[in-house]
This record gives sequence, structure tokens and C-alpha cells, in this order.
Amino acid sequence: MPPERQHIPVGAANTRKVSSPPDSALVLLPVPVSNFAGFSGEIVRWQKNHGRQSLPWQNTQDPYRVWLSEIMLQQTQVGTVIEYYARFLERFPAVADLAAADPDEVLALWSGLGYYRRARNLHRCAQDVVALHGGQFPPSAAQLQTLPGIGRSTAGAIAAFCFGERVAILDGNVKRVLSRVLGFSGDLAKSANERALWQKATELLPTRDLRRVMPRYTQGMMDLGATLCTGRQPACLLCPVQRLCAGHASGDPEKFPVKTRTLKRGSEAMTLLLARRPDGSCWLEKRPPDGIWGGLYCLPIFSHNTELQSFLPSGLRAGLEPLPQLVHVLTHKDLHLSPWRASFRAGQAMPLREGQENLGGGWFSPSQWTQIGLPAPVRKLLALQTSD
Ligand code: ADE
Repeated sequence: MPPERQHIPVGAANTRKVSSPPDSALVLLPVPVSNFAGFSGEIVRWQKNHGRQSLPWQNTQDPYRVWLSEIMLQQTQVGTVIEYYARFLERFPAVADLAAADPDEVLALWSGLGYYRRARNLHRCAQDVVALHGGQFPPSAAQLQTLPGIGRSTAGAIAAFCFGERVAILDGNVKRVLSRVLGFSGDLAKSANERALWQKATELLPTRDLRRVMPRYTQGMMDLGATLCTGRQPACLLCPVQRLCAGHASGDPEKFPVKTRTLKRGSEAMTLLLARRPDGSCWLEKRPPDGIWGGLYCLPIFSHNTELQSFLPSGLRAGLEPLPQLVHVLTHKDLHLSPWRASFRAGQAMPLREGQENLGGGWFSPSQWTQIGLPAPVRKLLALQTSD
């Protein structure tokens, strides 16, 4: 009988709020954009006096630095990004350094930020900037959007911050601000409504002195969404555009934005093999490029304990030890990880698994674990090995 397992929550990679549609009796007609004279000026003034001024990626117009921050800030909180951003810039001070890097090193530095497709695209994008644009980021949102990992809103942010282009952004925070201000009750799960909001976002942009004003306006929209116009209990009393805001006038700004698509959270169980040799090295294999933890090194994954048992030779099977289970929370699902430790002899080979032959695998020593990209829960499991 295996010993009782203990559950260790590994922490939330992300959570997603899905708002419900407003009561149909309360739906407001969107207010025409022509009623918002003065909107952009208020945002710019407020940003100057009350917005965030000294984040590490502010006060620069270097597209490399701005791009790096914007990619890291997709789906990740400012507080988490700050450290990663500094480490990336220290190791890769210019886009050419990143382009020339080994993909494993990029993933290793990204390890723990999650959404690893961003790291793979980051590397590809740096390579394209060098190979196709002579090492300079192209100076317009339209061209930026052709690069890997740069979507419409990210392209808008880079172009507004670095080149003063009159172009909108529409990330989650800005959708919330604009849908409230405008009283926009179209369901943003429908692409036609999202397109309409992009159109309104563009109409509301500043029209003069763009080089100076566009960076501040763009940062102001981000700051307003992050600090006052929050999902719950927005601080309308402090808001610079309260007098213009249809959401505030309705008495229930929280009913915006409307997004009906519900996200069904799933869960998945995985059995992990922590194979260790007497010298402390552990077997890790590279994940296929697509799918969970693509391109990272990982412990061998089995769908079930029985699959792991039949994979191992009988000598190792008998000595399998269960380790504490982990729950790793991803956006769409909870992963229930059941790790088992198998003690291999010095020089004992890992059996081959059908379909896994061409995934690079090997015995990695503790000093090598820091050099490669590992999923956060695997890094945590490995760290526990060195402490017992
Ligand atoms: N989120 C996305 N871009 C950001 C920025 N420039 N500053 C703060 N948060 C952000």
C-alpha cells in the first residue's frame, strides 16, 4: 500500500474572469463617440499626474525594450515580469543577442513565466527582425503585426510608445475601460462586436502632437484599467473620465464588458516519472514543440500509474516511491500531477518508449537544471530532490 499522498498547491498560473451578460432590461445604447470630446486629453493629463511613471520599460522609446516588455506582460502581472525583464536584458542587451541565442537558453530564462509559446515566438521574432529588417524593428503597427507573437494590440502599443503612431490598443484592461466609458454592451465574444470596439477605440485617439501624446495616452489607458477601472469595485470617484462615462451613469459599471463565452475549466491527471541516478542526476526529455510545455524539458509523462508500471523493468517497478502530489493551475485546466521516484543504478539506461524515441532525453545533473527550460512544477519537484 503506498503511503498517503499529500497535496501541494503549486500556485495559479492565471485565472480568468468571465463576466455575465447584463440584465437585458438595463442594456444601454452605446453613446456616440462624438459625445466624448476631451476624453483623450483627460487620460493624458491623468497619466501625467497619477499614472505609473517608473516601470522599468517606461521612459524609453527603444522598440526592443518595449517589445520585450509587452510580450512578457501578455497574460502576466507587472510584479512578476519585472525580474524576468531585467534578467533577459542583462543576458540579451540587444535584439541580435537574443536572435543568436540557443532556444534552450531562451526557454530556461523564460521558465516560470508560463505560456511558453510566447518564448518560442519571442525568439523567432528576434531572428526575423535581424534577418528581414536589418536588426531594426519596423516603425509601424501594420509591419510589426507581421512578426511572430505580435498581435494587433501589442503592435499598437509598440508603435504608439516608440513611434507616436496614432493607433489603438485593446487588451483586456482597455476593453473594460472603453466598454464602460462608451456603455458598449455588445458581446465581445462575437468578433463583429470586437471589431466595432476597435473602431471606437481608434476614433477616441488623440489627434494632435502625436509623438508626445500617444505614448502617454496609451500608458494612461493601461494604467486606468490596471488601477482604477478594475473588474470589481472600480474607483469611479477618482476617475478622470467619470463625467463622460456611460457605465458610471448607468449605476452599474461592473456589468461591462459583456462577454458571454464561458470558459469551461477542465482538469487532467498526469503521472510523472522522477528517475534518479546515485549521482543525483535525473532523466529529462524534451516536450514536442506543440502542446503543453512545448519545447521545455520535462520528466517523462504517463497517463496513469499503470502505464508507468508497465513501462519500467520489474526491478525498478518494485522500488517506485510515490512523491507528494501537486496541483498546477493553468488558464484552462488544473493539472493533477502524481510524481513517482525510481532509483536507477549508475549507468542504468532509461528504457525506450514507443513514439518518444526522437524526443531528446538525457540525464541532467542539478547544476544543469538551471540551464534549461523546465515547467514550474517540474522545477519545484527537482528542487525537492536536492533537499532530501
Ligand atoms: N501591460 C501591458 N503593457 C503594459 C505597460 N506598458 N505597462 C504596464 N502594464 C502593461
